[in-house]
Amino acid sequence: MQLRLSAAGRVLVTGGAGYIGSHTVLQLLLEGCSVVVVDNLDNSSEVAVQRVAELAGEFRKNLTFHKIDIRDKEALEEVFASTKFDAVIHFAGLKAVGESVQKPLLYYKNNLIGTITLLEVMAVHRCKKLVFSSSATVYGWPKDLPCTEESSLSAMNPYGRTKLMIEDICRDMHHADSEWKIMLLRYFNPVGAHPSGDIGEDPRGIPNNLMPLVQQVAVGRRPALTVFGNDYLTKDGTGVRDYIHVVDLAEGHIAALKKLFEDPKIGCEVYNLGTGKGTSVLEMVAAFEKASGKKIPLVFAGRRPGDAEVLFASTSKAEKELNWKAKYGIEEMCRDQWNWASKNPWGYESPDTANGGVTK
Ligand code: NAD
Ligand code: WQD
Repeated sequence: MQLRLSAAGRVLVTGGAGYIGSHTVLQLLLEGCSVVVVDNLDNSSEVAVQRVAELAGEFRKNLTFHKIDIRDKEALEEVFASTKFDAVIHFAGLKAVGESVQKPLLYYKNNLIGTITLLEVMAVHRCKKLVFSSSATVYGWPKDLPCTEESSLSAMNPYGRTKLMIEDICRDMHHADSEWKIMLLRYFNPVGAHPSGDIGEDPRGIPNNLMPLVQQVAVGRRPALTVFGNDYLTKDGTGVRDYIHVVDLAEGHIAALKKLFEDPKIGCEVYNLGTGKGTSVLEMVAAFEKASGKKIPLVFAGRRPGDAEVLFASTSKAEKELNWKAKYGIEEMCRDQWNWASKNPWGYESPDTANGGVTK
C-alpha cells in the first residue's frame, strides 16, 4: 500500500494539540510537510506539541504552534497572512456527547461558529482544500450494518448534530464553488497511542470514552470501570464498536490529503475510517487486561442513554479510493495504549496539575 505524499505541502492543522491531531501532525511532519498548529488548548496541553516536535527529529523545524481559538477571526487572519497553506485539516471542536446535551449552545457556538470562521478565512486566502473530522456518530443507531457512507444519517445529540450540520455546510460550499475540495472523514472509535508512548490521549476533566477510563482504572486513578448495559443483543450483552488505532487513523489523513492533492475529480467526498470489525466492551477490557497485566474491576450499570447497540464500518470505499486500510488490531491498540499510560499515568500533567484524577 502506497500512501506517501508525492508533494509535501504546507498544512494548517486546527486542534493539532489534541489526541488525533497530535498523532496526525507527527505523520505529516515525517512526510516532509510544513505544519502550523492552531489550538486553544481547551482540551489539550502544549506539551503534546513539544513531544510531537521531539518525535519528529530533524523535521521539527517544520512545526509551528499558535495558541488561538479558531473563532478569533483576526488571529486566524494573521496566521493565513503569514503562510500560504495548501490545505487545512480541521480537528478543532468540542466532542463530549453528554456535555453537548447539557450545554448545547456551547457546542453550536464552538463547533459551528469555529468552522464557519475557518471557512471564511480560508476562502479569503484562496485555500480551498479541507479535511474535516466527522464522526460515526452521524449514523445514530444504524438499522443496517456495516455502516456504509450511504447509510441513513441521524443525530442523537447536539454534538452529533454539529457534525451533520458541518458536513452539510461543506457540501453547500462545494456546490456553490467547485474549487472547494473537501474530505469528510467519519472516524469510528479511535484508541491506542503512538508506539513511542510519548503521545496519547489525555482529555481534560473526567473522560467520556471507554478506553481513557479503562486506562485510568489500570493506573489506579479510578477504582473500577462502569459497564453501560449488559443486556444488548450482542455476543456478551455489551455494546459493540469499531475501534481503530490512532496511528492508523493518522495515516488515513495522509491518504486523504494525497487524494486531495492528486485527484482533480475530487468534490466533497465522505469516507469511513474504521477497521470494519466489531469488538464488545468486555472483549476490549479483556484485551487491555492481557496487554497491561492489570485487573480492571467492573461495575455493571444500565444502558447509557443514546448509545447504539452495535456500530461498525464498511471500509471498502476508503480501501478502494484512498488506498488506505487499517493495519492494527485490538491487541496492538491495547499494547500501545498501555505503553503510553504506564509511561504517563497522569497524561501530560503531574498528579498535582492533572484535573481528571479521582483525587481532585
Ligand atoms: P481532542 O479534544 O483531543 O482534540 C480537539 C482539539 O481541538 C483540542 O486540542 C482542543 O483544545 C481544540 N479545540 C476545541 N475547540 C477549539 C477552538 N474553538 N479553537 C481552537 N482549538 C479548539 O479530540 P480528538 O479526539 O482529537 O478529536 C478531534 C476531532 O475528531 C474532533 O473534531 C472530534 O469531534 C472528532 N472525532 C473524535 C472522535 C473520538 O472519539 N476521539 C471520534 C470521531 C470524531
Ligand atoms: C464505547 C462503548 C459504551 C464508557 C463516542 C461518541 C462518538 C465518537 C466516539 C466523537 C459503548 C461503553 C463507555 C464507560 C462503557 N466520538 N462504555 N463504560 O459512545 O461509541 O462513541 O466516541 O465523535 O461520537 O459518541 O464511544 O468510548 O464512549 O463507548 O461501558 O464508562 O463503551 O456504552 O458501548 P461511543 P465510547
